[in-house]
Amino acid sequence: MDVLLGAQWGDEGKGKVVDVVAPDYEVIARFQGGPNAGHTLLFEGTKHVLHTIPSGVFREGTINLVGNGVVVDPVIFLKEVRSLEAVGVDLRGTLLLSRRAHLILPTHRALDAASEAEKGKMKIGSTLKGIGPTYMDKTGRNGLRVGDLFQADLKERYSALVRKHERLLSLYEHSGASAEAEAEWLDAVEQLKAFQAVDCEHYLDQALRSGKRVLAEGAQGTLLDIDFGTYPYVTSSSTICAGACTGLGIAPNRIGKVTGIFKAYCTRVGSGPFPTELHDETGERIRQAGHEFGSTTGRPRRCGWLDLPALRYAVMVNGITELAMMKADVLNGMDTLKVCTHYLVNGERTERMPYDVSVGIEPVYQEIPGWKAANAAGDIPDALNRYIALVEEAVGVPVTILSLGPDRAETIMRKVPDLA
Ligand code: IMP
Repeated sequence: MDVLLGAQWGDEGKGKVVDVVAPDYEVIARFQGGPNAGHTLLFEGTKHVLHTIPSGVFREGTINLVGNGVVVDPVIFLKEVRSLEAVGVDLRGTLLLSRRAHLILPTHRALDAASEAEKGKMKIGSTLKGIGPTYMDKTGRNGLRVGDLFQADLKERYSALVRKHERLLSLYEHSGASAEAEAEWLDAVEQLKAFQAVDCEHYLDQALRSGKRVLAEGAQGTLLDIDFGTYPYVTSSSTICAGACTGLGIAPNRIGKVTGIFKAYCTRVGSGPFPTELHDETGERIRQAGHEFGSTTGRPRRCGWLDLPALRYAVMVNGITELAMMKADVLNGMDTLKVCTHYLVNGERTERMPYDVSVGIEPVYQEIPGWKAANAAGDIPDALNRYIALVEEAVGVPVTILSLGPDRAETIMRKVPDLA
């Protein structure tokens, strides 16, 4: 099984790359996160944004599996299904759900909002999709799972969980979910039963034994990982490669290639430290040129220079074997680029990602000439080749995919350079 994941703070372009490489795989499996994700794909002039459904859906014959590590909001899931059906994507028999995946309730969303309001200035900047509270109920052993939809006592368990949530919400002095939201949810779970629920660990074991190629698709990014991200400004799941094992039931020794997706610069949406953030017109230029606005929330993304210590860290914790550099075209026309090669932490040089990146950390930059125009139809400009070489040398992993535009056609597969 190969793994494809984000090497920065999310929004790297995972959806596009999954869609491009999907023809090489029979199964695409999402392993964590939920509708906080927004995976954008563009082809034949139409943009599609996926939240819970894996990005292989547009490739005919591909099985798309929502793994046990994912949290599913039945209402959002069904909306996504309907909008895909409306553009002619037939999901019958090709979209599978793990029985062990946990369900997001309307009161989880209310709890998310209450928790953020309580945090005030310290808020995480959550997408407010109920992700954190749902994972809390999972680890607190209170959650409802897809498999529970087929149990006779579903309604009682649902009501018991809602009552618990309402008690918590009253402590926050926050309102619960509306009666309409609850009715919509109960209606959606009935419809969800029409989808094939599987034991994804057995399903994937069988698929791999029969020689099928499986790609695990991550959501968010390494620096939003619950353990290794910039805690507490992170999401609530394991976004790193190990999360593909626990989020799908696949043993570590079955992992092959690990592709890390990164942008030629950095972005972050929501709160939290961002050492290379640009607060000037260069940041604004990148935001406009890169259309850096959240695909799930529409929020403007914070933009900054490429951070090599952070990328090196992502390579290390994930065992990344190759990289995909995205959106290099967004930097077209900039005379000079900056790349953070190391940090000064309280005056001392380090090439590592420190425990706390919120205080006393100063990024040190190398300047490098930019390129005028790079596009997938022409030759790669020398300056861009030098930029890529700098990254490869700094992190010790080849850049095998270069994306120079949002369309699936605007992608260059590079020959693997020998970095030995
Ligand atoms: P949550 O996962 O919605 O609770 O959000 C926690 C943090 O992760 C916030 O800073 C979000 O902006 C960020 N986040 C969650 N999902 C994504 C994503 O798909 N892309 C980028 N940032 C995300």
